[in-house]
Amino acid sequence: RLLIVDFGSQVTQLIARRLREDGIYCEIHPFNRVDAAFLVKFAPKAVILSGGPSSVYWDDAPLPDPAIFSAGVPVLGICYGQQAMMHVLGGHVEGGTSREFGRAFIEKVVEDPFLDGLFAGAGGEQVWMSHGDHVSEMASGFGVIAKSPGAPYAVIADPERRFYGTQFHPEVYHTTNGARILRNFTHGVAGFTGDWTMAAYKAEAIARIQAQVGTGRVICGLSGGVDSSVAAVLIHEAIGDQLTCVYVDHGLMRQGESEQVVGLFRDHYNIPLVHVDASDLFLGALDGVSDPEQKRKTIGRLFIEVFDEEAGKLGGADFLAQGTLYPDVIESVSVSGGPSMTIKSHHNVGGLPERMKMQLVEPLRELFKDEVRALGRELGLPESFIGRHPFPGPGLAIRIPGAVTREKADTLRKADAIYLDEIRKAGLYDEIWQAFSVLLPVNTVGVMGDVRTYEAVLALRAVTSVDGMTADYYPFTHDFLGRVATRIINEVKGVSRVVYDVTSKPPGTIEWE
Ligand code: XMP
Repeated sequence: RLLIVDFGSQVTQLIARRLREDGIYCEIHPFNRVDAAFLVKFAPKAVILSGGPSSVYWDDAPLPDPAIFSAGVPVLGICYGQQAMMHVLGGHVEGGTSREFGRAFIEKVVEDPFLDGLFAGAGGEQVWMSHGDHVSEMASGFGVIAKSPGAPYAVIADPERRFYGTQFHPEVYHTTNGARILRNFTHGVAGFTGDWTMAAYKAEAIARIQAQVGTGRVICGLSGGVDSSVAAVLIHEAIGDQLTCVYVDHGLMRQGESEQVVGLFRDHYNIPLVHVDASDLFLGALDGVSDPEQKRKTIGRLFIEVFDEEAGKLGGADFLAQGTLYPDVIESVSVSGGPSMTIKSHHNVGGLPERMKMQLVEPLRELFKDEVRALGRELGLPESFIGRHPFPGPGLAIRIPGAVTREKADTLRKADAIYLDEIRKAGLYDEIWQAFSVLLPVNTVGVMGDVRTYEAVLALRAVTSVDGMTADYYPFTHDFLGRVATRIINEVKGVSRVVYDVTSKPPGTIEWE
């Protein structure tokens, strides 16, 4: 396996992603946790030093532990990683004079297997730069293998020790042959064969869970979403009935959701599952609450209370399982100080009372969403579960602007089910990141069968996105939208007008509240 040492670059995640796409198992760890003892334990076959926002001359500059360079394994330093490597090994880094951002072209100076196969055509090789400082003097043993107008040491190598450095970012899309450069390092220099698969990951993950949990008891909060479902099935495969799942129905789930979750886990997988119908409690507490933040806080607090109570009924547990993903982890690790875990408010169980004293089991911590889906397939989860659109923890409450009532939730559920049914029938479900309806607190006048109506407006939303951070509205045909509107107005009492939301994110958010 390969170790990525993180110095805080925005694109460190992309290095991991590229490597896994190439069949290499890797883990990212913050620079300040990687010392001699860590290296012995982790036993990497190669190390990559990521980029980062710092300058090696800052007082508290993050630097790689020298043990990395005496471990006898190949090292690739990228951008700041290259500069930090030079700084530690005795080279020199200079600030400011030749900044380069964006596209640049490198020119080969000497032949080296690291650049093998590149520069086939005429002209330079396009790479992506983002640096203020640059290496101005190499450490001994290194030679230049490519340069750019702003970086005389765009690619450097010490083939003897198998140390390489690039000033540019091979992991980003705009470095035309970046994937190939990484492969030259991993396969060519470090000898990886690219045979890592999700099946291998599954076996490793199961062994890790068994080692961590021993004979302890684990509880896992299920939301019906992909992450917690995959975590639960994986843990169950590892430790069987030492696991109990708790599914809290707050009365704000989508149509048929509770039946599907309970059916899959209890009946199909035979996993012990506590199904708590807490809809009276939640809807009662939400009565008259119309401020979006107040709704979220109320729901978050009740979730914890209900979960705590159920855990108590089960006689307590030693471990709490969560479907935390890699992006959740990396967002909360600060460069200078190591871990400062701020689990997002919607990872509700992050706020469990101190006295519960449970350790966390987070088997998906190293994975990206699409990798979790691949693991889910490996575990045999049905495609209908794996491909599900994301659904927020507070559920339909944040899709009903204004005060929430059971009646409104029922109306919204019916309309939403029709909308999703039409999307599926049109074969569009998998093209869309997320599609849902919003029941507005606005009545408008209509006419149905010569009778005046005065009922609610329903807004339809559908967006495309890669990660939920930015999004664009989905360009349905007018024909499709017309068909959905007709069905909803005909079939759902309480809705007399349908509109489509064409706001992107930013400036809008995906959800309305
Ligand atoms: P926004 O509305 O911020 O949403 O553009 C981005 C993504 O996050 C989901 N979301 C949530 N998920 N609990 C969750 O589990 C929440 O409180 C929450 N709020 C938003 C949203 O559905 C979208 O996929």
